[in-house]
Amino acid sequence: MKTEAAISTGIELQHVSKVYSIESQMVPALRDVSLSIPLGSILAIIGKSGAGKSTLLHIVGALDRASSGVVQFNGLDLSRMEDQIASNFRNSTVGFIFQMNNLLQEFSAVENVMMPGLIAGFSPAVTRQRAKEMLDSVGLSHRAEHRPGELSGGEQQRVAIARALFMSPPLLLADEPTGNLDNKTSRDIQELLLTLCKERNMTMLLVTHDLDLASRLPHRIVMDDGQVVDRGIF
Ligand SMILES: Nc1ncnc2c1ncn2[C@@H]1O[C@H](COP(=O)(O)OP(=O)(O)O)[C@@H](O)[C@H]1O
Ligand SMILES: [Mg+2]
Repeated sequence: MKTEAAISTGIELQHVSKVYSIESQMVPALRDVSLSIPLGSILAIIGKSGAGKSTLLHIVGALDRASSGVVQFNGLDLSRMEDQIASNFRNSTVGFIFQMNNLLQEFSAVENVMMPGLIAGFSPAVTRQRAKEMLDSVGLSHRAEHRPGELSGGEQQRVAIARALFMSPPLLLADEPTGNLDNKTSRDIQELLLTLCKERNMTMLLVTHDLDLASRLPHRIVMDDGQVVDRGIF
């Protein structure tokens, strides 16, 4: 991994800044971040709270826009995308997994996993079949008809992973995905994520406070105060 490389595949950030403005106060969240992340990388992002980790993920996943700088995925310019195109990009290209799994409580596990397929306009029958296969791949086919409230934290996160992978996205963005889980469940979910990522040759950016986990991943960056302060050993 190196900065300012003129490559068109992978994730490319050049001099990216993000400033939030709240009640006329400017809050800098990212300051001049440049990163090149080749496709297929698994990258841990560590750093204390408020360092800009989530902001970085949101910008790479086109959930939010940079205030300045260049953000590209495979040469596609994310900072200039129209909203509808950004929305299609997110649904087809990016899988998101958050600490709070954001499952829809009134729907069953399989229905939650079906959401990206329904949004993409696939037929309900095909979508349900694929959602069941996805639940199977995270070891949860026996819980397909349960609602999130009837599942453990680890099981809920498995559903969220199945949903995130439904469209076979090349890019997975995980923001403290095991932050709410006990140690044993955390380990299981981490192993599952890493296995799925490698099997499917996905690129994953994983924000974590777990230094043990970060040290086991192939690449690491440390963020502080909106900047990448340590690029680890790439
Ligand atoms: N939507 C927002 N509006 C205003 N400020 C924000 C918003 N999101 C994040 N921030 C601020 O940006 C900085 C970076 O936040 P964040 O990316 O969430 O950090 P981290 O994920 O590393 O804890 C913090 O100072 C935070 O308060
Ligand atoms: Mg965060």
